[in-house]
Amino acid sequence: MIEKISFRYTEDITVINAQQFEAHIRLYEGYINNINKIDKILMNDPKREDANSTFSFYRECKRGETFALNGVILHELYFENIGGRTKVPNPPTTEIIKTYFQSFEKWQEDFIATAKASRGWAVLSFDQRSNRLRNISLDAHDLGNIAYSAAILVLDMYEHAYFLQYADNKVEYINRFMKNINWEVVEDRMGIFEI
Ligand SMILES: [Fe+2]
Repeated sequence: MIEKISFRYTEDITVINAQQFEAHIRLYEGYINNINKIDKILMNDPKREDANSTFSFYRECKRGETFALNGVILHELYFENIGGRTKVPNPPTTEIIKTYFQSFEKWQEDFIATAKASRGWAVLSFDQRSNRLRNISLDAHDLGNIAYSAAILVLDMYEHAYFLQYADNKVEYINRFMKNINWEVVEDRMGIFEI
């Protein structure tokens, strides 16, 4: 059973207003409910004997499992890495980013382009295979993630993340996100993977 995390809107969150935040939280809770529902089915009677890659109930469970669980995880990472009081990265963090993207500004430019190009998520990810940071683009929760990589910074680019507040002005949403990154959280995540 996966318990939901209770995220609260605070004055540190400037990228989205309270109404947009609350609507998004309700959506996140939907993913929590769904993964728990799917897990329960998988533990009981998922009709394994009829498993088939074209169409089967078991296949639907498996598709739903990764979609819902990634939906939960990516939303939690996103809500955790917005707001906060540390609005700029520490110099060592800037240096690490510079190692992989030539300069901090070039990383920003690339992350913004990745966000604009994404239908689902833009993620600064530590790819453990090539031992480097990458800005990766996910078109859906279960589409585009790199196996054996760790999400360091996550931006939700689904329209539901900004449309209530920004309508079709996604560029403004991205720009305000870039100014509202919780660098303390990002640096903690980097520390876990000794980047
Ligand atoms: Fe979302």
